[in-house]
Amino acid sequence: MNILIAYASKSGTTKEAAEMLAKLLTNHTVTLADLEKTTPVPGDFDYIVLGGPIRMGKAHKALRSYLVGFDEALCKIPHTLFLCCSIPHQFEHYLECTFSDELRESAEDALYFGGELNPSKQRGFDKLIVRMIRNSIEQSAEEDEDAVIPGLLPEHIRMLADRLRLK
Ligand SMILES: Cc1cc2nc3c(=O)[nH]c(=O)nc-3n(C[C@H](O)[C@H](O)[C@H](O)COP(=O)(O)O)c2cc1C
Repeated sequence: MNILIAYASKSGTTKEAAEMLAKLLTNHTVTLADLEKTTPVPGDFDYIVLGGPIRMGKAHKALRSYLVGFDEALCKIPHTLFLCCSIPHQFEHYLECTFSDELRESAEDALYFGGELNPSKQRGFDKLIVRMIRNSIEQSAEEDEDAVIPGLLPEHIRMLADRLRLK
């Protein structure tokens, strides 16, 4: 199968997730597309995995632009959606804000790939925001044992790879 993995990434986490998935799909022909650099045509592929990171409650600009141009075409190709973000309980909300009803409803799955909060990967104002989010998680961890500093979730990526390898 000819699979497109299309992603946008600002500080590299989503890129790492997309590359991890690509490496696992050894029995398919995989095209890895950074949406900041290229605009793949959905109709050229048999299957599409599409996603990006959330910042300040919004998806990466390159992903949003791609969706404006190709939403209808994407709905026609079998696909899985994913997001990288650091507030897991907002995942469903971010999905709704990012992808159209049609695209979500026609998706085989929509997955949370985790997200990193590493200040050393950020610059300027972004570094400050990451420190603030980390601090607020650390504070809530005192009362809520489910509050943990997030990371990338390779097991979620492997789960998708296992499913796609069977196609
Ligand atoms: C400036 C900034 C704002 C962020 N805002 C949010 C947010 O609103 N919600 C959330 O869940 N995660 C937020 N995050 C966490 C990112 O989604 C996470 O760092 C992700 O791994 C970034 O992916 P990337 O490295 O591919 O850009 C933010 C991160 C940064 C640096």
